[in-house]
Amino acid sequence: MPIRLDQRLSAIAALVDFGSVADIGCDHGKLGYYLLGTDRAKYVVATDISADSLSKARELAFENGVSHLMDVRLGDGLRPVRDGEVDTVVIAGLGGDVISEILTAAKDDGKSFAHFVLSPNTHPEKARRALLGCGHRIIVDDEVECAGKRYTLIKTEHGEDSLDEAQILYGKFFETSDKFTRRARGELEYKRALLEKNPSSESLAEKVRSLEYALSRIRGRKDEDK
Ligand SMILES: C[S@@+](CC[C@H](N)C(=O)[O-])C[C@H]1O[C@@H](n2cnc3c(N)ncnc32)[C@H](O)[C@@H]1O
Repeated sequence: MPIRLDQRLSAIAALVDFGSVADIGCDHGKLGYYLLGTDRAKYVVATDISADSLSKARELAFENGVSHLMDVRLGDGLRPVRDGEVDTVVIAGLGGDVISEILTAAKDDGKSFAHFVLSPNTHPEKARRALLGCGHRIIVDDEVECAGKRYTLIKTEHGEDSLDEAQILYGKFFETSDKFTRRARGELEYKRALLEKNPSSESLAEKVRSLEYALSRIRGRKDEDK
């Protein structure tokens, strides 16, 4: 049975190269099933910390006759996946703090994978910071809108990366992203208005300074290109 993914999961699927894939925190298992059905994956390890979620994924695979290609495993983060067992590890729909813990635990366990595809639904900066310590470099750092929400999309490969604080916060390629520029301008206006009402808020003042700095870098880069 063919399956349609929403824009977020479709964008994540599009970042997966053909090969074997681990979908960490698979919940319903739709991503793994879609990857198999569209020949984007030859084999999927679908894991989740919740037995209830895993039974949905197991059922989806069984009902569609792909149980032999989708191995469903219970466990925390990358614990159920062996070192190098898959080409691509997808971790989507979890917070950046949990993704960061999963990446760090896998590194401490000596596990290495060719690619990560990450879509943290909060705190993408925590996921980027953890990647820096894992011997991976970011090759895609983008975002997708789905049902009125914005989701970060990150893809990596083995290599060295050195991101400065603004890149960790706003994305490796923020200086050349029109999407980011538009959003940052709007957010800056909004935060400045809030700061006017709450002038003693140090966190708002810091956010305004940070956005002003990011936008000044974008302007500086555009001036250089002229
Ligand atoms: C919001 S769902 C996301 C499902 C799917 N990945 C997606 O993007 O649509 C989050 C799933 O991650 C699972 N989860 C949370 N923490 C986890 C962890 N440390 N290890 C594995 N799975 C986890 C939850 O049980 C839940 O099924």
